[in-house]
Amino acid sequence: LSLRQYNTFGIDVKAKHFADFSSAAQLQEILAYMHQLSPRINKLILGGGSNILFTADVNALVLKNEVSGINVIKQDDEFVYVQVGAGVNWHSFVQHCVQQGWGGVENLSLIPGNAGASPMQNIGAYGVEIKDVFEELEAYHLHDKTIVKFSAVDCAFGYRESVFKRKYKDQFVIISVTYKLRKNPLFNTSYGAINQELEKMGVKELSIAAISQAVINIRSSKLPDPKVIGNAGSFFKNPSISKEQYDQLKNEFPSLIAFTNPDGTMKLAAGWLIEQCGWKGYRKGDAGCHAKQALVLVNYGAATGKEIYDLSEEIMQSVKQKFGVELEREVNIF
Ligand code: FAD
Ligand code: EPU
Repeated sequence: LSLRQYNTFGIDVKAKHFADFSSAAQLQEILAYMHQLSPRINKLILGGGSNILFTADVNALVLKNEVSGINVIKQDDEFVYVQVGAGVNWHSFVQHCVQQGWGGVENLSLIPGNAGASPMQNIGAYGVEIKDVFEELEAYHLHDKTIVKFSAVDCAFGYRESVFKRKYKDQFVIISVTYKLRKNPLFNTSYGAINQELEKMGVKELSIAAISQAVINIRSSKLPDPKVIGNAGSFFKNPSISKEQYDQLKNEFPSLIAFTNPDGTMKLAAGWLIEQCGWKGYRKGDAGCHAKQALVLVNYGAATGKEIYDLSEEIMQSVKQKFGVELEREVNIF
């Protein structure tokens, strides 16, 4: 089976085996069946395929998570605890919350992919990360064949990080995630661009619907729509460096863009670094660096995963050479 329509980069690779499942029980059945056929086959869990780059055919069982459902499991005066199935499209979950007046995820509007992948890299945008509203998740342990609950502490969330990308890589299948949302929303407009957009929209009274729309407008203006141009969002993370290294760089490059981390280190805008190296709008064959956002690598049609990967390698080398800064990939490479 070709995976082309299952990854937003639109890379045309083949999967050795493919199955979808809509519950933990069904997943268990599939795994038992596959175990008979091919006991040692690797497994790859797939959500919306919006943070993945396939560089070769996938010699594994690809398991597409289709667990559905959005359910309120408890509530009190302040909070509503909403459990969302891993296969639910993230943005449709956000829209549902906005419609219900539940605050907390509106800044994360229009992020592609499914709810089940949201804890994987602690998705974030416009001043909010899911860790801020995360209550718990349920995951199926592939080896022990049991369902395990994870609290926020268990998940060890960091910037685009969690335990599922590190210690527990490839060991758990996230089945559902519970978010703790506010009945009386607090508005987070800490990200400058949101305020500018709200002003442009002529919004007089803040609401989660207005914030959601502002985020949608900003994102649509600079991020390529995967349906039109293949991509997986930011290809690299924004790198953090020491204050000393930052001061030196800022001296040499006065227009350097950075934000102060809570621990005093400095997070650099990788898009700026890449743009300064001349990559913005670059294209070689069908692989390229997006003309409006240098942090996003794109597939104009028939690029291979290897071509995109090689381009990312060249970009990393040139940033290292010019600024002495190591970029790290955000996208999961297979
Ligand atoms: P996939 O790409 O299918 O999978 C990602 C990884 O998680 C893989 O390693 C996969 O094996 C694993 N995985 C997926 N589902 C499960 C599961 N249920 N259990 C266990 N493992 C699983 N990200 C941000 O954080 N902020 C942004 O602002 C943002 N903007 C984006 C904009 C664009 C245009 C695009 C294309 C991507 C953007 N992303 C952003 C990246 C991406 O949308 C998120 O990482 C998203 O959470 C990926 O979800 P997915 O379902 O597509 O995951
Ligand atoms: N910039 C440039 N040139 C570029 C791109 C950006 O100079 O080509 C500058 C911008 O002018 C701005 C700064 O870099 O001053 C930051 O840019 P932007 O606001 O577009 O955000 P980003 O740092 O590039 C991050 C996340 C995005 C998230 C946005 C909004 C990472 C790796 N990326 O991008 O997440 O949507 O902030 O919060 O942290 C993703 O993870 O896939 C993703 C899209």
